[in-house]
Amino acid sequence: MSVATPVIAGNWKMHKGPAATRAFFDTFLELSPHRTDRTVIVFPPALSLAAAVAALGDRSDIALGVQDVHWEVEGAFTGDISAPMAAEAGAAWALAGHSERRHGLGELPETVARKAIAARRAGITPILCVGETLEEREDGRLESVLDHQLAPVLRHFEDAELAAVLFAYEPVWAIGTGRTATPADASAAHAHLRRRLGERLADPAAVPILYGGSVKPANVRELLAAPDVDGVLVGGASLDPQSFAALVAG
Ligand code: PGA
Repeated sequence: MSVATPVIAGNWKMHKGPAATRAFFDTFLELSPHRTDRTVIVFPPALSLAAAVAALGDRSDIALGVQDVHWEVEGAFTGDISAPMAAEAGAAWALAGHSERRHGLGELPETVARKAIAARRAGITPILCVGETLEEREDGRLESVLDHQLAPVLRHFEDAELAAVLFAYEPVWAIGTGRTATPADASAAHAHLRRRLGERLADPAAVPILYGGSVKPANVRELLAAPDVDGVLVGGASLDPQSFAALVAG
């Protein structure tokens, strides 16, 4: 799989219903000319996906994704959505294992891997999110935490499948806190993930690894210039069309 980098992804979390989604794209599309030298993805709430598809019209340069999928195709799972449903509704991408789900809702590494597999089976590209808490970092456990989160993915995925997944390194202490990892912190974590991928893949550099955590127009350039950083996953600063357009412009 070849994905144009940098990847600029906006994770809206639980923000923007259909009307606010339409309003966002009205402005954002005006500010953002079609370009092919990067991958732009927006992750609206699933309920706003249809509004986003309609608002994008023929702007095939902007992709859409869902913030989570269930690992089963259908069944008695109240409140959940499945990957085939998301694909049918227009999602080409899915986040898996965002820290707000791992830490807020108790999702385990095994569950996250199963969700990523479900996404792949539905033709959706997963972005697997990993990252450590401040306490884990201060205890010197960054690499072991990343390894623990990665383990079921490495176990379940064949090499070709692994090569078709994207990763996002999102240190929990940098998410929504205004505290950004330095480019060197991001590079070090990304290099570790890449070393692990290199134990399985001939070309681990071909698997994009995004950085997430308080990315804004003011710091995006230096983060994207850091070694091993192939894109950004942006929460707060993706909600405003001007700011997301500035991030996409780079
Ligand atoms: P933030 O969120 O940019 O608001 O820190 C990032 C994320 O959770 O993906």
